[in-house]
Amino acid sequence: MISLEDRLSENRRLVENWLKDNLPSPEEFPQKMHEAVRYSCIGAGKYLRSFLVLEACRVLGGKMEKALPVAGAIEMLHTYSLIHDDLPAMDDDDLRRGKPTSHKKFGEDMAILAGDALCTFAWQVIADFTEPMICSKVIKIIGRAVGTKGMIGGQVADMHWNRMSIPKPKILRYIHRHKTAALISASLGCGSVCAGADPGITQEMERAGVYLGMEFQIVDDILDETGEEEKMGKKVKKDSSANKLTYPNYYGLDTSKFLAQKYAEKACLSFSSINDRCESLVELTEFILKRSN
Ligand code: IPE
Ligand code: IPE
Ligand code: MG
Ligand code: MG
Ligand code: MG
Repeated sequence: MISLEDRLSENRRLVENWLKDNLPSPEEFPQKMHEAVRYSCIGAGKYLRSFLVLEACRVLGGKMEKALPVAGAIEMLHTYSLIHDDLPAMDDDDLRRGKPTSHKKFGEDMAILAGDALCTFAWQVIADFTEPMICSKVIKIIGRAVGTKGMIGGQVADMHWNRMSIPKPKILRYIHRHKTAALISASLGCGSVCAGADPGITQEMERAGVYLGMEFQIVDDILDETGEEEKMGKKVKKDSSANKLTYPNYYGLDTSKFLAQKYAEKACLSFSSINDRCESLVELTEFILKRSN
């Protein structure tokens, strides 16, 4: 049996090469922009979301080549969200993926545009490289996940929660469900669509993804308190001083760990109900609880 570690590194190799080949060359005009886009998107990061696309496709019996452009597009959207998340007007971070953030390296104007460029390329590659049936389904899933009723909605609430008259536990759940879990869920949904799975299976994959995404973001909050900058590749111990509403800030570390574990269990149950081959996704869910980066 192939280990999770090997599957993750094979995914990284495939997706990284695909991005290298399909993002515009830094020799093409406007060179600085293409350099900025490649700087943030290639060669760093965990490539978790693209792994979910390819793995969901594989465990459902699909061909990974069909899912690769969608996996690449989702990494582009994720990277765009990080570039913008780090901007001075948002979380104001200097370090991402172990390197200076896009605006530190290229200036704020270029960082805003690099995020916009990645967001645009993503839709372009989906249109260019997927079959019409898959294309329309994938666009629906991703569009819903990254729009104002998905990731953007979550980011707005993350920035403005204290001006919203919504009870804290409710808005906290909303933030995590939308800013992070929506795209993670969409990644599994897209992999399922690329495999040509039935709508019921795609729905179950998406459900598992919501639980996995909640777990992932609660662990991110915990690591902001307990993790190390060098391993994380980003600044830690920032959420409290930035007045972020996070699980540890609201529930404390122990309850947060307990809740992450509960979401992990729910994700595992969902994956296990799909088929036996989902074992790698169950393993990944357990791995995320223990991650240190
Ligand atoms: C960072 O996501 C943003 C969150 C949703 C916590 P990742 O931790 O997956 O970032 P990379 O892609 O590995 O850099
Ligand atoms: C980022 O959440 C979520 C998105 C970019 C959509 P965070 O702000 O918690 O992520 P980090 O901690 O900067 O990676
Ligand atoms: Mg943020
Ligand atoms: Mg941030
Ligand atoms: Mg964070």
